Amino acid sequence: MRDLNRTVAELMARGKGVLAADESIATMSSRLADAGVAPTGDNRRDYREMLVTTPGLSQGVSGVILCDETFRQRVSGGATFPGALADIGILAGIKVDSGAKPLAGQPGEKVTEGLDGLRDRLAAYAALGASFAKWRAVIDIGDGRPSWRALRANAHALARYAALCQEAGVVPIVEPEVLMDGAHTLDRCARATVATLMAVFAELQDVGVRLDAIVLKPNMVVPGAKSAELATPDEVARATLSALHTIVPEETGGVAFLSGGQPPERATANLAAIRALPTPWPVTFSFGRALVDPALAAWRGEPDRAWAGQRALAQRVAACSGALTGAAAAAAGDVLTIPAPRPVNGGTDRPGAKLRLAPVRAKLPFLKTSGAANGARAWRHAHAAAARQRRDHGR
Ligand code: 13P
Repeated sequence: MRDLNRTVAELMARGKGVLAADESIATMSSRLADAGVAPTGDNRRDYREMLVTTPGLSQGVSGVILCDETFRQRVSGGATFPGALADIGILAGIKVDSGAKPLAGQPGEKVTEGLDGLRDRLAAYAALGASFAKWRAVIDIGDGRPSWRALRANAHALARYAALCQEAGVVPIVEPEVLMDGAHTLDRCARATVATLMAVFAELQDVGVRLDAIVLKPNMVVPGAKSAELATPDEVARATLSALHTIVPEETGGVAFLSGGQPPERATANLAAIRALPTPWPVTFSFGRALVDPALAAWRGEPDRAWAGQRALAQRVAACSGALTGAAAAAAGDVLTIPAPRPVNGGTDRPGAKLRLAPVRAKLPFLKTSGAANGARAWRHAHAAAARQRRDHGR
């Protein structure tokens, strides 16, 4: 069985992040169709092969998340996708949830399903080469949303998934995504993110998940996509880290941000601003659209344009890797630089910044006794903590 801490260390290696190429068949098919490519199984395979065979990919990518279909497909050379990734020193991950479904009793809210049979599926994926997994919960901001009931349902499922992963020797990527959809303010996103993380970490602790052996995949704190509010990378970074510092315990193995539908350049600029501030956990990216959208647009499903897709992906990877190391984004994406190694739990090489770290454990006594009865208290606590963070950081 793989050592969980070693997998976390490899995923969080300096200057590297995770490529999320695990869109479901339905989502991938509609993205292919939008790009003018027939949504067939072969085209989904060809597209993913184009991505993972990008020259130099392993210099900026430590892991690739795949869906079940791709995990069982083969690249042209005959290797399975996990095998092809292992050959180039990239870890293979598997999305194991079965999607977000309407939550009974909470109109407009969803709970992610997929726990049935998960122990057996994880064992099978591990045997096929999976060293990490992903489960995504989606949290919607709206009128009366998110509800505490939806947060708890999603957090509980995430925690049970994470415990099963660790039992199987697979590192769980724990992804509670507060969606960008809507016209909400940055402040509303911050409050929803704090409440979401609080529910998640309370359940992780209840279920006995080892926090040093997970990678948290949160959203950045940003205004809604339909909001007129503009937030600079520095504002996003401070709001994001204020929210995370309020809740995320220091022993957490790593934090890998999703892009959430932000334009690629903005997601990268926000990542760079986050990385420039001090954090107690290693920070990286686990981007989907912000890495692959330009590649899909450049490839267009034409075999003789694979080089164009790969060049577009390499440029985004180089920019994200540069955002992590503080290097200027590489202008020519086909030339990735190899960064120097860094101790995984260090964080001491980060530029001295003014963001004050919240002593998480001391501020969250409810984490020791989490459960249904603590919901209302936890909400109040989260809101008070978020307000203190905003006041402390002049927001
Ligand atoms: P985005 O970066 O496109 O949000 O995708 C990340 C992901 O893995 C969503 O589950």
